[in-house]
Amino acid sequence: MPVLSSLAERLRQRPARWLVTGSAGFIGSHLVENLLRMGQTVVGMDNFATGHRRNLDEVQSLVGVDAWHRHRFIEADIRDLDACREACHGVEIVLHQAALGSVPRSLADPLATNASNVDGFLNMLVAARDAGVRRFVYAASSSTYGDHPALPKVEEQIGRPLSPYAVSKLVNELYAEVFARCYGLPSIGLRYFNVFGARQDPEGAYAAVIPRWTRAMLLGDVVTINGDGETSRDFCFVDNAVQANLLAATSDDAAAVNQVYNVAVDDRTSLNRLFDVLRDALLDFCPDVRDLRPVHGDYRPGDVRHSRADISKARRLLGYFPSHRIEEGVRAAMPWYVSRFGVAAGVR
Ligand SMILES: NC(=O)c1ccc[n+]([C@@H]2O[C@H](COP(=O)([O-])OP(=O)(O)OC[C@H]3O[C@@H](n4cnc5c(N)ncnc54)[C@H](O)[C@@H]3O)[C@@H](O)[C@H]2O)c1
Repeated sequence: MPVLSSLAERLRQRPARWLVTGSAGFIGSHLVENLLRMGQTVVGMDNFATGHRRNLDEVQSLVGVDAWHRHRFIEADIRDLDACREACHGVEIVLHQAALGSVPRSLADPLATNASNVDGFLNMLVAARDAGVRRFVYAASSSTYGDHPALPKVEEQIGRPLSPYAVSKLVNELYAEVFARCYGLPSIGLRYFNVFGARQDPEGAYAAVIPRWTRAMLLGDVVTINGDGETSRDFCFVDNAVQANLLAATSDDAAAVNQVYNVAVDDRTSLNRLFDVLRDALLDFCPDVRDLRPVHGDYRPGDVRHSRADISKARRLLGYFPSHRIEEGVRAAMPWYVSRFGVAAGVR
């Protein structure tokens, strides 16, 4: 049985009260959706810095009225300790996703990144500790590998951070470790590698590559590849990230707790190849994309050249088994992007 289905069965036997921060964002909204489908009670918290109410509306229509009754949303900011305390009240498990993502955003405004990703994170740890939550799972990042050259990336070998964002995510891991050691707060950090899927925001200067290019392809805009296109990433479909969160939240293995894990597929896709994968997946909806060609621009500062995860630690200690490789994930995500932009594109 697929891991997510057996997790669903287990969770239905043991309903709990969860807090998902960043719940109006991309990954957070998928966590809320899955938890509600699995019979859980969910508190969501977001300040809409980069998330959207429409993501919550979409989850509501996907899960239906009955499940939605088990959800409460708090519009609040993790930089506000009292708000974090209110959100953690009576909660058993925290899935902390709220943060300002994007390396370029952090280079443009390191103070804002630090305030949400470090101060906000610390507030959440304090609130979770004081509320006595039994597990604190948080979004860490592959950016923590920084300039370490080893490939694939193994959890124990990290380099120097290459951006303020990377510093903030490394600090998260250090604080979580200290809160485990000093206060006994059980946590697990998930180092996501380029997660993608429906509801990942395609708009704005800091959009991630898959939604940005998909939008451009659908609207007939130019797709620009930063550099020669041989930069590579381990693209991870959002269902894999959901699976990792639920495994981390429910693991009973003491050896698995107070650890960080890579969450990816153990695969490497160049940007040139990604262009082809996206174009091929759109062909069914929009045959004109066949003739699209990318243009090449400058490399982005702060970007690492190659990224690929060794996922054996998550496999061994959590039972993580990614359900989707990049092609399958892209095919699963495309209908959402087509429904979002297909009308504007006239599904061209
Ligand atoms: N998507 C990826 O590839 C990826 C990779 C590595 C790490 N991450 C981490 O995963 C988490 C989720 O990322 P995502 O891709 O869903 O991004 P997202 O921007 O869609 O979601 C983040 C959510 O956090 C909310 N938020 C930000 N600051 C907040 C604050 N001060 N108070 C309350 N809410 C706040 C935003 O409004 C947004 O809804 C983040 O911590 C991110 O750093 C994501």
